Amino acid sequence: MAQGADGYQLFNPRAYLQNNYTSPRANFEREDSVVPWKLRCFAASFSTGEIRGATLLDIGSGPTFYQVISACDWFGSVIMSDYLEVNREELRRWLRGEPGAFDWSPFIKYVCGLEGKRDQWQTMQQRMRERIKEVYHCDITQLQPLQPRLLEPVDAITTTFCLESVCRDKEALQQALANITSLLRPGGSLLMVGALGESYYLAGEAKLPVVPLDEAYVREAVGNAGYNIRVFKTYNMPPELQTGVDDVSGVFYLQAQKL
Ligand SMILES: C[S@@+](CC[C@H](N)C(=O)[O-])C[C@H]1O[C@@H](n2cnc3c(N)ncnc32)[C@H](O)[C@@H]1O
Repeated sequence: MAQGADGYQLFNPRAYLQNNYTSPRANFEREDSVVPWKLRCFAASFSTGEIRGATLLDIGSGPTFYQVISACDWFGSVIMSDYLEVNREELRRWLRGEPGAFDWSPFIKYVCGLEGKRDQWQTMQQRMRERIKEVYHCDITQLQPLQPRLLEPVDAITTTFCLESVCRDKEALQQALANITSLLRPGGSLLMVGALGESYYLAGEAKLPVVPLDEAYVREAVGNAGYNIRVFKTYNMPPELQTGVDDVSGVFYLQAQKL
């Protein structure tokens, strides 16, 4: 098993999806399962109608779309991004509607259900495929994470489980947060989800190191990066969801505004 940051060369998108985005972590029959919790957090932020604009950028998307389902109602254009081509290809496969792509429909149905529109999930899925216009390469360790692409500062950024699982320590994480913040316009929103108390996770043959975070540190780092935190929520991982694919103890969700 490959360890350390180099383990990303062995990152297996399908294994990662299996570990984190199927039952028991994605059990839509159980409100206390972690994926429904994350979807409710995003839905609550967007339901205010305050987070909207031309472009939303998702950083370190991996092979997943759940983090932008609610966003697609509020932005004309959504851009996904990841460091690894295998993840970008997994995303494109779903965007093209290819057979064998991961099935995000239970996630979309759940989000639509939160708004009392479960029967309209196909319209929502179609809108996602129309509004998710690009899948870019990104490297959050670079001062300009999307280089060589240049983008006008975006209206909102989402990023889920990326910073702590890419950066080698808290200093590097603070720098990476500054790097992605440079892509956001002043007044724009950052919606971030991350692991608490985690030191590693598995994705097939890859074992990836994670910087263990706690709420106080996350609040400090986000404040230092020039944000006003509007919402901060935490979730304790129940024992039955501690399945051996990582050693996470909880998850945080935050909504912040760039000053
Ligand atoms: C734990 S996964 C998170 C995936 C997804 N956002 C989610 O919520 O499940 C971390 C992601 O960071 C990506 N990554 C690795 N190195 C990176 C880098 N230098 N810059 C940006 N993303 C990177 C990996 O390819 C992987 O998709």
